[in-house]
Amino acid sequence: MTAPRILVLNGPNLDILGRRDPAQYGTTTLAEIEAIVHTEAAVHELEADFRQTNREGELVEWLHEALDDFVGVVINPAAYAHTSVALHDAVEALTVPVVEVHLSNTWKREPFRHVDHVATAATAVIAGAGADGYRLAVAHVASLVADPTD
Ligand code: DQA
Repeated sequence: MTAPRILVLNGPNLDILGRRDPAQYGTTTLAEIEAIVHTEAAVHELEADFRQTNREGELVEWLHEALDDFVGVVINPAAYAHTSVALHDAVEALTVPVVEVHLSNTWKREPFRHVDHVATAATAVIAGAGADGYRLAVAHVASLVADPTD
């Protein structure tokens, strides 16, 4: 039997993690975060499909795949969290749990980061836990998949 699959999406500029503003985002690379995600998913007998794009429409299309093919979603929409009604609508259309992650605590930062269109549609938000936020998000999705009444 194949393991239930979760979709882990990453938005713009996250491909350069490790070199991008380490004071804000740390030195962990996206490849290292991907390894953390696969390890945590395996702990919960899930399989993770981990992706990154710099394009908003691609994130929208990938979210649509979660209508049929995934039991949950983890998403770091990066800057699109603050601008994209399209991502809000795509997340809102899903019936599976969606956990939004931000490496930094966006609430402690510039006011334009205090608008979060994804958060207003997501199941839960983890911000400011650094790379560990992804591990926590996978664990939370797993707990909701195991017991959807949580
Ligand atoms: C981010 C926070 C966003 O405000 C920013 O635009 C990013 C990264 C984070 O993970 O902390 O690109 O999503």
